[in-house]
Amino acid sequence: MTTLPLAQGTQVWSREQRYTALEQVPAATLGELRALVAASPWRQGYHIQPPTGLLNDPNGFCFWRGQYHLFYQWFPLGPVHGLKYWRHTVSADLVTWQDAGIGIAPDSMYDSHGAYSGSTWPLEDELLLVYTGNHRSPDWQRMPYQLAAHWDGQRLRKDAPFLSGPPAGYTEHVRDPKIWEEGGEFFIILGAQREDETGAALILRSPDAQRWTLDGELHTRLNDFGYMWECPDYFALDGMDVVLLCPQGLPSEGEARRNIYQSGYLLGQLDKTNWHFEHGEFAELDGGFDFYAPQTTLGEHGERILVGWMGLPDMTYPTDTHGWAHCLTLPRVLSVEGGRLRQRPVPALECLRGAEVGLGGDAGERFELRLQPDAGPFVLDLRVSEDGAHFTRLSFDGEWLSFDRSQSGELPELDKPGLDAGKGGQVRRIPVSAVRELRAFSDTSSLEIFVNDGEAVLSGRIFPPPHSTGLRWSGGGTAQLWRLNTPAEMGGNT
Ligand code: FRU
Repeated sequence: MTTLPLAQGTQVWSREQRYTALEQVPAATLGELRALVAASPWRQGYHIQPPTGLLNDPNGFCFWRGQYHLFYQWFPLGPVHGLKYWRHTVSADLVTWQDAGIGIAPDSMYDSHGAYSGSTWPLEDELLLVYTGNHRSPDWQRMPYQLAAHWDGQRLRKDAPFLSGPPAGYTEHVRDPKIWEEGGEFFIILGAQREDETGAALILRSPDAQRWTLDGELHTRLNDFGYMWECPDYFALDGMDVVLLCPQGLPSEGEARRNIYQSGYLLGQLDKTNWHFEHGEFAELDGGFDFYAPQTTLGEHGERILVGWMGLPDMTYPTDTHGWAHCLTLPRVLSVEGGRLRQRPVPALECLRGAEVGLGGDAGERFELRLQPDAGPFVLDLRVSEDGAHFTRLSFDGEWLSFDRSQSGELPELDKPGLDAGKGGQVRRIPVSAVRELRAFSDTSSLEIFVNDGEAVLSGRIFPPPHSTGLRWSGGGTAQLWRLNTPAEMGGNT
């Protein structure tokens, strides 16, 4: 039987340990892991986080039978990437999420080495799940299968693959199908790598969501734009076509693209007869530190809602020694305004608001701050420690808005040597001509800052010492500050 590294300081996981199935682990070992996780001071209060182990991409986000379903990539046994499951959560309001257990287990020969990312589409009496099965041969060659599964609310039924292996001209890096329906037909956009090791997106088409044919590649101006595009998404919004993609391998560009991998969007017009996409510049979705692999769905009222992974691959995080890593972002409502995407927190989050305290009051670790600063530079320190030595600083110098977590406490770090020097670091800066409003959501170990009513968002995990609840504000303006309740306090179990 495989033993697990759990809290052993080294955190070195063998391949055998990473590919251990949950049911092979003794209950006592899982109990130890749960206890380790429960003792972590950085467990979130109102974000979706894994019960144990590692969470990555949001998957299968949809509104079905009166509820939101949101799955995520999950390695149950520790804070590393290994045998991935889909874990399932359900919500009526996008705020209080009930954990619904395992969504997809990697239990077939096609997904034997991971039920990788994918999406869902509500059919008449069942939910269709499409995802990538990751299979490895005995000599560890990767083989991707594009898979469909059907869920009737109780049982999951898996089909044979609808696409086996890479199509001609592409490597084994073909994954992350995002499905949509349009004009009585079904489409999938799929992440891929060409044989010349450049990233691309493929389009599949189907009359019935069962028989799929490859319709071609998405033609963009970005022919040599990173070595792999992960987790693409497509939707029409406010008269525009929007493509989301996560290109890997882009160098940093001044203050931009400083994270190890990027997650951004293209806005334009897509010709669906030949998949020619006339689009503008690639723009990053989040100006902070920890954001990747977002997925969108249409909400109950037809709004386009996005959730991302508040984390990145190839990084170590301070919770690793506590047996868990990562969480999802808060859901954001998207719109196209002035030729750019805007992202606003879903309105339902207001139901978390508890007591309103003044700027000088103690809001605790979990709060929402709404600030309309006077014109000009300012410095805002959030989550200041009792001794004043630790804080996360947002500052504005008239041109740049800086998000500095260098003093915030323990720090995430890049785990990959050989990247260009501009990558990493603990400060992110975005150009802003004027800061009219900041809306900050603080949870135990994260900050999400919405700037100027969703013109920009900065997300970051922070790992401050306990009782880091102070706030320092240098400028004038008006502010509102609410303590936030957790769904658990309100009866849910996020
Ligand atoms: C993105 C990603 C996907 C893949 C999944 C595996 O973070 O690498 O491309 O499907 O994670 O967990």
